[in-house]
Amino acid sequence: TSNAMWGGRFAAGPDEIMEAINASIGYDRRLAAQDIAGSRAHAAMLGATGIVDPTEAEAIREGLLTVLSEIEDGSFVFSTALEDIHMNVEARLKDLIGPVAGRLHTARSRNDQVATDFRLWVRDQIDAAMTGLEALQFALIEQAEAGAEWVMPGFTHLQTAQPVTWGHHMMAYVEMFGRDASRFRDARARMNESPLGAAALAGTGFPIDREMTAEALGFDRPCANSLDAVSDRDFALEFLSAASITAVHLSRLAEELVIWSSAQFRFVSLSDRWSTGSSIMPQKRNPDAAELLRAKLGRILGATVGLFTVMKGLPLAYSKDMQEDKEQVFDAADSLMLALAAMTGMVGDMTANRDALRGAAASGFSTATDLADWLVREAGLPFREAHHATGALVAKAEAKGCDLPDLTLEEMQEVNPAITEGVFDVLTVEASVASRSCYGGTAPEQVKRQAAGWRARLSRG
Ligand code: ARG
Repeated sequence: TSNAMWGGRFAAGPDEIMEAINASIGYDRRLAAQDIAGSRAHAAMLGATGIVDPTEAEAIREGLLTVLSEIEDGSFVFSTALEDIHMNVEARLKDLIGPVAGRLHTARSRNDQVATDFRLWVRDQIDAAMTGLEALQFALIEQAEAGAEWVMPGFTHLQTAQPVTWGHHMMAYVEMFGRDASRFRDARARMNESPLGAAALAGTGFPIDREMTAEALGFDRPCANSLDAVSDRDFALEFLSAASITAVHLSRLAEELVIWSSAQFRFVSLSDRWSTGSSIMPQKRNPDAAELLRAKLGRILGATVGLFTVMKGLPLAYSKDMQEDKEQVFDAADSLMLALAAMTGMVGDMTANRDALRGAAASGFSTATDLADWLVREAGLPFREAHHATGALVAKAEAKGCDLPDLTLEEMQEVNPAITEGVFDVLTVEASVASRSCYGGTAPEQVKRQAAGWRARLSRG
């Protein structure tokens, strides 16, 4: 039998395989709430403008609420033959209120309908991402404030570079996640326009009120070009791009947690709630959550590349390719929200091992730069010469099997006679971090200032 929505032109129904490849109801049922909100706004506008009799429009709006409650309580029966969420909802509406349901689709197409539903869905995810990022930032700020004074090694090439503070390291991620949140905020502002009323692609001749539906759905304004409104999915691409960058940041922090929780580093202990054991090795505490979080980027970036590829060759306006826009975004959004929540939990629960951090910071000649700077400041050497002399002192200490502060003054003076007792003041890791008090530096006072600044910014919203 031919299709109930467009059967007029058709004698036969679709092949079974056609039905399978064509149907999106298996996943786009996730748009049910948005679809019904969009339809209710459209129906209200049809009634208000007199395009549909106001009593009939009200019956449609009521019927849609019943459909929504059936979907929410699980009694709704989804049909693959009805292809997608839009036609499933409309068919059920017809069962409930009769042929009047057929008036809902006046001055509308599934093209502007799906573009509207999907924007509303992505908009909610953007809001959830911003909320999730903020919670993670607070967890990091708490770590930063607790450990503003704790000294740890800062690395380049994963080799000991200079001492930094635990708080400074935590605050680095607060900055990154803050930029991530601002990317979502920007994307939201750009995408918050209503496609509804673009109809199939050209707009409609019915005297619709696009401002009214836009406002009812919380959009800032209607999209200004009907072709653009139904054709583009850049709002989804932007969401995925922002999600990918966030996931890169999450993955880098996860990688650090994996390294830091190893027996060789022992910088942090992850709580039992975020670790697993081994079925054979009784001593094991594995950082599985961090590892999975590292892997989530693969999915999110995969979805991003996937949708870019779907969109890149499509002529305007709608092509059915665009039905393949949703699954990847759903999966990426689910992965992102889970990753944000897991990272927030892990960071909130983790314990930094202050002694291990300090021990590691004090090894590996981490204050060599402080020594070179001292030679510049106190002995008047050009930096290049100071660098060379310090290199020789490091070699001396290495040969002796000790660290820089363990060399005697005589040993130092063999390398450069201008060195005096005062040099020992700058060789401790505490002195090193305290000295780096320029704006953005690792000194505890700077870290505390940055943390307080972020707290104020976040609570202002
Ligand atoms: N399920 C479709 C999608 O997700 C809805 C739009 C269908 N429009 C069309 N002209 N066939 O893209």
